[in-house]
Amino acid sequence: MAPKAVDSILDLIGNTPMVKLQKVVTKTGADIYAKLEYLNPSGSYKDRIAFEMIRSAESEGKLKPGYTIVEASTGNTGTALSFVGTRLGYNVEIYIPEGMTRERIKIMESYGAKVHEMKIEGLDSKGSVAGAEVEFIPRQKCLDLERSNPKIWWARQFSNSANWRAHLVTGNEILEQMNGKVDAFVASIGVGGTLYGVAKALKAKIPKCKVIGLEPASARYAISSGVLSPPGISKEISGGIIEEMMESGLIDEVVKVTNEDAIKTSDRLVREEGFFCGISAGANVYYSMKVAESLGKGKRVVTVLPDHRDRYLSEKKYTT
Ligand SMILES: Cc1ncc(COP(=O)(O)O)c(C=O)c1O
Repeated sequence: MAPKAVDSILDLIGNTPMVKLQKVVTKTGADIYAKLEYLNPSGSYKDRIAFEMIRSAESEGKLKPGYTIVEASTGNTGTALSFVGTRLGYNVEIYIPEGMTRERIKIMESYGAKVHEMKIEGLDSKGSVAGAEVEFIPRQKCLDLERSNPKIWWARQFSNSANWRAHLVTGNEILEQMNGKVDAFVASIGVGGTLYGVAKALKAKIPKCKVIGLEPASARYAISSGVLSPPGISKEISGGIIEEMMESGLIDEVVKVTNEDAIKTSDRLVREEGFFCGISAGANVYYSMKVAESLGKGKRVVTVLPDHRDRYLSEKKYTT
């Protein structure tokens, strides 16, 4: 049945499809199901949090007509805020670490945002799988801007509880789509909103469900290395959701996945399954296969394909 007509593109955020993997699986392992989050309107699950963070800020009186939304982002949250923020009539300015792909900037600008590239000392030229750790300098910039102008609102995805609250909905969608039968959930961690929100929703209904977080093996500041931020970084620009999530006891395991395994698996997802997804989707499915193998037949592993491959196409590794 075709979905009913809606009034706004914003009504199409979430409710993404769930598909059972057919080829990128292990012969003797559990079934793996992938939630196609790259099919959100701006191409990633960050649409969910952009909408929730903006609506919450409006209802708390922190964001008003005529204001400018700012955020530090390596790509997807910036894109999602550009999409949702401009649709709702706000100015949007995104502070992005230098070295991200051109298409990420072009996508944000296409939605009408202003993008500021910032130089990050010590970031290697191939650092495109960079996560939260390269965002500290852009975050400091957002904090300074917000302090200097009362008409600027900084979304603060890394500490804003509206981030993980948006993913309670993702978790509830998973429960509905899987008829309440999920043995494990696997997802990569950036600022932690997805894993924490989904974990809360799943464990409330299925306490035995295993929840596993993944980090890039290349990340210097990570849960698995025990150091979340460089020395001297203030609480205002670090920590937040990740710390709360780890204290919650809801996360069973955090493991590292290499960029190589993530990229190889994402290539397989495109070629063998037809999912036009990004790198972290590869990490998620790579480790889901390991979990599937350890759980065995008859069990179900659920994961997410966070973003669309359109934002990585000019990366060299995708053309070889
Ligand atoms: C492509 C991609 N995968 C995974 C993540 C991790 O999601 P979260 O920030 O909710 O932990 C992010 C965001 O940081 C992302 O952009």
